[in-house]
Amino acid sequence: GKQIKLKEVEGTLLQPATVDNWSQIQSFEAKPDDLLICTYPKAGTTWIQEIVDMIEQNGDVEKCQRAIIQHRHPFIEWARRGGVHHVGQVGLELLSSSNPPASTSQSAKITDVIHFLYHLLPTSFLTLKFLYVARNAKDCMVSYYHFQRMNHMLPDPGTWEEYFETFINGKVVWGSWFDHVKGWWEMKDRYQILFLFYEDIKRDPKHEIRKVMQFMGKNLDETVLDKIVQETSFEKMKENPMTNRSTVSKSIMDHSISSFMRKGELWGLENHFTVAQNERFDEIYRKKMEGTSINFCMEL
Ligand code: A3P
Repeated sequence: GKQIKLKEVEGTLLQPATVDNWSQIQSFEAKPDDLLICTYPKAGTTWIQEIVDMIEQNGDVEKCQRAIIQHRHPFIEWARRGGVHHVGQVGLELLSSSNPPASTSQSAKITDVIHFLYHLLPTSFLTLKFLYVARNAKDCMVSYYHFQRMNHMLPDPGTWEEYFETFINGKVVWGSWFDHVKGWWEMKDRYQILFLFYEDIKRDPKHEIRKVMQFMGKNLDETVLDKIVQETSFEKMKENPMTNRSTVSKSIMDHSISSFMRKGELWGLENHFTVAQNERFDEIYRKKMEGTSINFCMEL
C-alpha cells in the first residue's frame, strides 16, 4: 500500500501539505466579491466548477477549454506568491474567472474551491458568497473509496469493509461527511450560501444551473443555459481532457485503477453495500444527523 501520512487540525485529517500551509491559508484575505465553491470531497466539485466557469464565460466552450479545470484561476497567483506551487497542496483547488491572472490578483475576483469543514474556515471567508454542493453520504463514500484507490496522494483505502469503518468515523481527508454537511446546512441561512444538491443537479440540471447563474448575478439566455446543460453533462465532461483529469500524471492519479469520471450516478445503481452494511449505515446516519432537517431526494 501507499505510505501517506496524514496530519490533523482540530481532529480533522488533512493532507500534510495542507497542514504545513495552514497559517497561510488562515491569513488569506478574501474580498467580498469572491465566490467560493465548497464541497465535501467527491460531491460533484468538478461538475459545479465547470458549471460556474461556463456561466462566467457566458457559455463560451472555447474559453472553458483554455486550461485544465484545476488551473483556471488567479488564486494560483496568490498561491505562488505565498510560495505554494501547487494549489492542491493547500486543499484549495482552482477555478475560473473572466479576469486574467493579474500580478496584483489579491484584488481580482476569486472563484475557488475548498473542502473546509465550516468551523475550519479562515475568518475572512465568512463575508463571501458560497456555493455549497452536497451529495448523499453513500455515493460520496463509494466515490471516495475509488478515488483513494486511484489517487497516489491519498492513503490506500484498504478493503471496502475497512473503508466502511474509516468513512463513518470520519478518518478521511477533510473529515467526517456528517460534520461537513451538517455544519454547512446549519449555516446556510446565516450567511450568503447557495446550498445545492448533486442529486438535484442530476435530476434537473437547467433548473439548478439557473439558480447558480442568478446567485452569480448573471443573466443568460435560455439557449445559453441549454448549451451549458449539454456541455456539463457527465458524458461530455468524461470525454473532455480539460475536466476529466486525464492530463494529471499517472504517478498522482492512475486512471487505469479507476477513472476520475467514474459513473456520475445515484445510489441504487451501485451495489457496494451489503444488506447488513446498508442497515448499519442507515442507523449511524440517523444518529449522526439527528435534529437536522436536511433531506436528500434520491429519485430521478
Ligand atoms: P463518481 O465517482 O460517483 O462517478 P469531485 O469532483 O467532487 O471529486 O466528485 C467526483 C464525482 O462527481 C465522481 O463521482 C464523478 O463521476 C462525478 N461527476 C463529475 N462530473 C459529473 C457530471 N457532469 N455529472 C455527474 N457526475 C459528475
